[in-house]
Amino acid sequence: MKAMAQRTWKTGEPLELLELPTPEPRKHEVRVRVQAIGVNPVDWKMRSYGPLRLAARLLGPRPPVVVGVDFAGVVEAVGPGVTRAVPGDRVVGGTNFSRGQRGSYADTVLVREDQLCRIPDSVDIAAAAALPISGVTARMAVVDLGRIRQAQPADRRVLVLGASGGVGQLAVQIAESEGAFVAGVCSTKNVEMVTDLGADVVLDYTQGDALTQARAHAPFHIVIDCVGNYSGADCRALLSSRGRHIMVAGDSPAAVVQMLVSPFKSKTILGKPTGERLEPLVAAVAAGKLRVSIAEKLPLTSAEEAHRLSRTSRMTGKLILEP
Ligand SMILES: NC(=O)c1ccc[n+]([C@@H]2O[C@H](COP(=O)([O-])OP(=O)(O)OC[C@H]3O[C@@H](n4cnc5c(N)ncnc54)[C@H](OP(=O)(O)O)[C@@H]3O)[C@@H](O)[C@H]2O)c1
Repeated sequence: MKAMAQRTWKTGEPLELLELPTPEPRKHEVRVRVQAIGVNPVDWKMRSYGPLRLAARLLGPRPPVVVGVDFAGVVEAVGPGVTRAVPGDRVVGGTNFSRGQRGSYADTVLVREDQLCRIPDSVDIAAAAALPISGVTARMAVVDLGRIRQAQPADRRVLVLGASGGVGQLAVQIAESEGAFVAGVCSTKNVEMVTDLGADVVLDYTQGDALTQARAHAPFHIVIDCVGNYSGADCRALLSSRGRHIMVAGDSPAAVVQMLVSPFKSKTILGKPTGERLEPLVAAVAAGKLRVSIAEKLPLTSAEEAHRLSRTSRMTGKLILEP
């Protein structure tokens, strides 16, 4: 199999196209021929600095390090204990980037069957590959940790900071589909797009402090921070009495401190994709209720370029790599 990998964990080590042994599935494992890979900020953060890199170094695979989590493709081979997948199935999933599992920047991945969700023929493979981290995180923020369904319909008010990003775009749509009043924060160039996704109000952070602008629409049942540089205290000040501030982004030293000693109303997300968590997202895309926007498709060998683009934090839509 071919994979884009770092030969060592050294910072600055480039990703190279390497030939690695093709793995054989063990009892509950499935081998997938990858057709599309979703790029997420965590993919390059693991390579560069901070707590994600530390965690990946301590718990992730040994070199050569194949980075990446999201993938979609076709089942190629299954282990003897697999009951939920057969060769030929179209599937989407996320690698768990553990000691025993490599990342997804490859033409082949080996995962457990519970990490996969089947994709109907009507769902585009690249759109599916955009879902695992972004979609699971967005849905957890709104439905699970944000507990939107526990709010009375009239109290379902959601503020999404970073509404034009990979996670934010899906959070806006999921909140809207739960009947919420949605306020989205983005820059001028994305105001129209976020409005089109279903936000009731779009606040342009280049025209003045976003949280000050948001006060006119408070109180919110959920404030979702997909940016990471907004003050937690200021976000909590916009909440209703039972509201929650959900921290999606947060790997700056200040954000890590806030996460470790987070006040009761602030919750940190770990958007880990599983087959079960992907099911409602794939169903929503198939039903035309959730739209995925793809910024650019690049060949797998351009993974470094994809990371350069993702680091700008200015991409509107997902970057997809194709093996
Ligand atoms: N906890 C988890 O499990 C988890 C999961 C997924 C992602 N994350 C983290 O969440 C963050 C977002 O991820 P992503 O995939 O959505 O990134 P992304 O697609 O790169 O989105 C970045 C977005 O941030 C917006 N932005 C930049 N500065 C802003 C500001 N001051 N106010 C409002 N929006 C601003 C940009 O919009 P404009 O161009 O309109 O400015 C851009 O659309 C990253 O830090 C990522 O590591 C965490």
